[in-house]
Amino acid sequence: LKAGGFRSEDGRRFVVREVRLGDVDRLLKFANALVKEKRVNRDLGVGAFDKKVTRRFESGFVRGMVRSSKRKEAVGFAAIFEGEIIGFCTLRRREPADLRHAGVVGIAVREGYRGVGLGGRLMREVLLGAKRIGIWLVELEVMSINGAAIHLYEKLGFQRVGVIPGKVARDGRLLDIVVMYADLRNR
Ligand SMILES: CC(C)(COP(=O)(O)OP(=O)(O)OC[C@H]1O[C@@H](n2cnc3c(N)ncnc32)[C@H](O)[C@@H]1OP(=O)(O)O)[C@@H](O)C(=O)NCCC(=O)NCCS
Repeated sequence: LKAGGFRSEDGRRFVVREVRLGDVDRLLKFANALVKEKRVNRDLGVGAFDKKVTRRFESGFVRGMVRSSKRKEAVGFAAIFEGEIIGFCTLRRREPADLRHAGVVGIAVREGYRGVGLGGRLMREVLLGAKRIGIWLVELEVMSINGAAIHLYEKLGFQRVGVIPGKVARDGRLLDIVVMYADLRNR
């Protein structure tokens, strides 16, 4: 398994490594912390963190993730601080035969750990992992109000394709989505 250390600008030490089978409880805690945050911070993520996750679900998710990684169908990295997962980034290969060079990426870092470079580090590991398994086109969708995420993606070389107006219906508001992609062939 790939693993490495990361020292944030504020001096905290993190471990960034691939997701493993023993991560079920750590990932469960991480996911439910984001679910809890989303009740207050309504700007969080697209199509995620909407309802409390069960251990049974998370266990299936982690087993699927590890199996997919072994089969070169996915890449998953976690950032760990004092034994807890505080950041997570995954990329999944698209399944149709003519889209197998493409993958969809998702990322989240826990409140209190954002803005110190972890998101960048996680995403770089995942993009390297994608290249290793022959995925060179990476796609994502992000809410147009998510300034931090868009800034991060642009810094990592993602291009904006355009906007889908009103794709997200949240709290009686229609929010726009920005579609982005990165071509990894010349990296
Ligand atoms: C998006 C997210 C993963 C970024 O992780 P992170 O660890 O904070 O990322 P980094 O610290 O590596 O980089 C964040 C960058 O955004 C910048 N930033 C922070 N808030 C910003 C804002 N409101 N507008 C623009 N830029 C902002 C930071 O300054 C930093 O840029 P810099 O390195 O050039 O200074 C994190 O904010 C998060 O988990 N958000 C909630 C979940 C989510 O939105 N996921 C993405 C869904 S598509």
